[in-house]
Amino acid sequence: MTLKETFDNESKFYDEFIVKTVPYYATIIKEASNLLPYKNDAEIDILDVGIGTGNFEVELFSRYKSVRVDGIDVSENMLTVAKEKKFVKNANINFIAADVLNFVPQNNKRYDLVVMSLLLHNFDGVEEKTRVLRNTISLLKAGGFLLLIDLIKFSNIVIQTKVTEEYNQFLHHANGVTEGENWRQLLEKEDKPETIETLTEITQQLGLSQPTILCQKLNFSAMLFRFP
Ligand SMILES: C[S@@+](CC[C@H](N)C(=O)[O-])C[C@H]1O[C@@H](n2cnc3c(N)ncnc32)[C@H](O)[C@@H]1O
Repeated sequence: MTLKETFDNESKFYDEFIVKTVPYYATIIKEASNLLPYKNDAEIDILDVGIGTGNFEVELFSRYKSVRVDGIDVSENMLTVAKEKKFVKNANINFIAADVLNFVPQNNKRYDLVVMSLLLHNFDGVEEKTRVLRNTISLLKAGGFLLLIDLIKFSNIVIQTKVTEEYNQFLHHANGVTEGENWRQLLEKEDKPETIETLTEITQQLGLSQPTILCQKLNFSAMLFRFP
C-alpha cells in the first residue's frame, strides 16, 4: 500500500489514533508552535508539508492571527478532515493536494517557515529523506526556518533501549495490551526514524544551521533549523 492509500484509509480515525501512538503529541505541537521565533502578530508565509488533519494549525492559528498557510498533503481524505475543522473558518489557509517530491508553488512562492510534522520518518534511509528535505528547503526564503517534528532514535544503545521500553509501555497503556502490541509490531516495521545527529548532518549539507530543540519527549522531537 502506498502512503497516500494508507492515510486515505486512516483519515477518519487519524486524530483518535495519533494520540495513542505518539506520546505527548498534543504537548509537542503546542510547545513547538508556542516557541516559534515570531511575535503573535507576525505576518509570515508558512508551508506545512504533510499537513494531515491540520492539528498543528489549530495551535498555530490560536496564537498567530496574521500568518498565511499553504498546507500540502498527498492524501485528499486527510485534507477533507482538516477542511471540516472549526478553526479553518477564520484562518488564512490554503489546502493543496500535492506530493512533497514534486510540489512547485504557484508564482515561485517562497516561505518564511516550512513545517514538517511526522512525515519524514515515513521515508526510507538517508537518501530518500535527503530528497524530501532538499525539495522543501529549496522553498525557504533567506533567513527562513524549518520546523521538523518527528520520531527520532538514539545512537546510544542504552538510551535507545530504555526509550523503546518506555514507548512500548505507552502503546500498551494507551491502547490496551493486545492492540498496543499490534501497534508496536506495525510501527516497528514501518517507521524509519533517524538520530538527531543524522538529521543534522543531512540538513547541514543542505545549508541549514544546527537545530534548536524546541521540545523533546521520549522518542519524539521538535527541531528548528535556520536557513542563512
Ligand atoms: C503522520 S501524518 C502527519 C500529519 C500532521 N502533520 C500531524 O503532525 O499530525 C503524515 C502525513 O503526511 C502525508 N504524506 C505522506 N507522504 C506524503 C508525500 N509524499 N507528500 C505529501 N504528503 C505526504 C500523509 O498523507 C499524512 O497526512
